[in-house]
Order: sequence, then structure tokens, then C-alpha cells
Amino acid sequence: MRIVLYGGSFNPPHRGHVAAAQSVYEALHPDRFLIMPTNIPPHKVMEENSPSPQTRLEFTRLAFGDIPGAEISDMEILREGKSYTADTVAVLREKYPKAELCIVMGTDMFLSFRTWYRWEYLASECNLAVLSRDEDDGPEIAALRERLEKDCGAKVKRIPHEPLPMSSTEIREKLRRGEGSELLPEAVYRRILQTGSYGAKPELTWLRAQVRPYLKPKRLPHVEGVEAMAVGLAERWGEDSHTAAEAGILHDITKALSPEKQLKLCKKYGIILDIAERETPALLHARTGAALSRELFGIPDEIYGAIRWHTTGRPAMSRLEKIIYLADYVEPTRDFEGVEALRKLCFEDLDAAMELGLRMSAEEIRARGAEPFRDTLEAYAYYRNLNSHKEEESSC
Ligand SMILES: [Fe+2]
Ligand SMILES: [Fe+2]
Repeated sequence: MRIVLYGGSFNPPHRGHVAAAQSVYEALHPDRFLIMPTNIPPHKVMEENSPSPQTRLEFTRLAFGDIPGAEISDMEILREGKSYTADTVAVLREKYPKAELCIVMGTDMFLSFRTWYRWEYLASECNLAVLSRDEDDGPEIAALRERLEKDCGAKVKRIPHEPLPMSSTEIREKLRRGEGSELLPEAVYRRILQTGSYGAKPELTWLRAQVRPYLKPKRLPHVEGVEAMAVGLAERWGEDSHTAAEAGILHDITKALSPEKQLKLCKKYGIILDIAERETPALLHARTGAALSRELFGIPDEIYGAIRWHTTGRPAMSRLEKIIYLADYVEPTRDFEGVEALRKLCFEDLDAAMELGLRMSAEEIRARGAEPFRDTLEAYAYYRNLNSHKEEESSC
């Protein structure tokens, strides 16, 4: 029986790791192919805010799901402490005394092999599978291979592999900047966002594509308009434009759902509705949209609030909440009397724009013979009061 061990910190596991595992599988056809995230890697320091070993284990399960025969092993994570391959091999050797054990490593790791903890033991118990490009297979590797084979009886097998140009360090940096989706298996990328790992922000092109199936085609120009307007306002008022874009893209994600489906989602997410909300299903998409966005994309509280309050407003809104409320109201495809004046005011005085927008919204609802929402009236009273105080202060 041939047992192949492919270990790593997988922080996070990326497409380069998966391609390497594919090459290993094709070259060695293992009977058991153990993919093993380390608990604490002996050779490098993990970044302080790295996800827990259990979360990396979950990412690893998601990453290697398509590799034939791959088994994701939690052996090193359960053992805790530093993850020395020699300890793992000792356990495997005891369990499988006659198996051929084979450790996978890249060229760099192979060249530093003699610094590994109990490397002589490893070389005597295991064969080494070295992933390397043709041009890497130079005299240095040949000399080490010969030495290990002669002194320890290890078999060193070269696995031809053209590594994908990426590293976990570089990917973590990209994730923080809202980039890097193409470097990760889709399921891993999604889970990273959901778990809020690495301070990752979703890539906006990826997020737009994710949200599109939820939207009716006729709503698309509106959502694009809200995103553009939100970014414009964020830049004007010193808000993070990536965050504003995210909130704009997501704000109407559940708008197309029927009242029945909205109520179902409210139940699922434990959203308690008051009487006005029960009677006005159009309001529910703000609440369900915030909750669904959190479940699908792990949005932070500030974006949750911006989606939650985008239909009614509320007193004392955050800057992002105001930006999304107003962007929703005056984005470029909106066309109603007074929209241009309000649009202009949004860039001059955000609180004054809130007061005017809330008043116009309440008047519009009254004109339809309905009663404005309580939150809208309270928000209007709040901003009217706030603005009159500001006026008094400035005239003193
Ligand atoms: Fe909406
Ligand atoms: Fe909207």
C-alpha cells in the first residue's frame, strides 16, 4: 500500500496547492492520499490573526474535494503543538508497518530537508516526492538526492510540476485589498468571506456576479446606479468606497422575492416584525437582504446596517447608512420632481440631504394615501432637529 502525505499550513489553501496535489496524484496514484493541514508549522511563523486550525481544516476540505482519493486528515491538528512530520510518520508507521510512505514537498523544502526535525528517521522510513520544474532539477538537487539515497535508503522521486505563480502570503494581502478571488477554489473563497478570515473584502466583480441571479433584469440598472452613487458619495464624504460599493451591490438582493418568501426568510433569521412591517411586504427586503448578505458573504455590521435601514432610514444613522439611503433614492436612473436638487444637496450637506430626502419620501407616501413608516417619521424629526441646531450654532 502506498500512502502519500501532503502536508502544509494551507493558510489558505489555493489553486497552486490543488494543482500540485493533482500532479502528485497523477504521478504516484496513491492508495491513500492524505492531505494534512499543520497545527503549528515548524518552519514558519503563522500570522497573528490567522484563522483557527479548525477553520483552516475546513478550508482544506473545501479546496481538495475534487482530487481523486484525497482524504483530509486532522491528525496534526488534533495532536496540537508544533506539527513535526516525524511525529506524524511515526504514527503512520505504527499503524501501517508495511506500507510505502511517501512525503510530498517542493524544491525549497527538499533543499532544506536536512534541517527538518529527525530528518534521518524520515529519510529511512519514507520516500520523498519532490515537486519540481525541469529547470530546477539541477546539480544541487541531484547531489542531495544521491546522498539521501546512499546514506538513508530513501527513494527520491521527482514529480514534474510547473507551480502556479502564487503564494498564501501574497493571497492574504490581496484578500485584504478586495482582490484574489481567481487564486482560490471558489468554495474556499466564499468560506473565507463568510468566516471573515484574513480581513478579506469581496472582490467587487465577483460580488456583482453573485448577486445578479437574485435580481430581476429590470432592477439591474437601479442597483448599478446605487453602487455608482454610493461610491461617489463615499469619496465625497471620506467613507471607504469599497465598503460603499459592497453595500450598494447588495442592498436589494432580496427585493425580487415574494412576500411569502420574505416572511420565510424572516422566520429563518429570527427577524421579529412589527405590525407595520407585516402589512408592508415592500419593507421586508431591507431586513431579509441584510440577513441573507451576512449569511452568504459575511458582511460586517456597518454594511448590515446600511442595507437594513435603506428603505425607511432611522434617527442617528451612520455615515454609510446615510450614503446608501440617499444613493438608493437619487441614483442616476431615478426621475422625479426635485431629484436633481436633492442629488446636488447630497454632495453639499449629507444631513440636510437626509432631512429633505426623508421629507420627500414621507410626502410621496402620503400622496399615495398611505401613512409614512414610523422609522421614516422619527428619522425626519431627528434630522430636522439636528439641522436646526447646526443652523443655530453657526449663527451664534
Ligand atoms: Fe430597496
Ligand atoms: Fe434599491
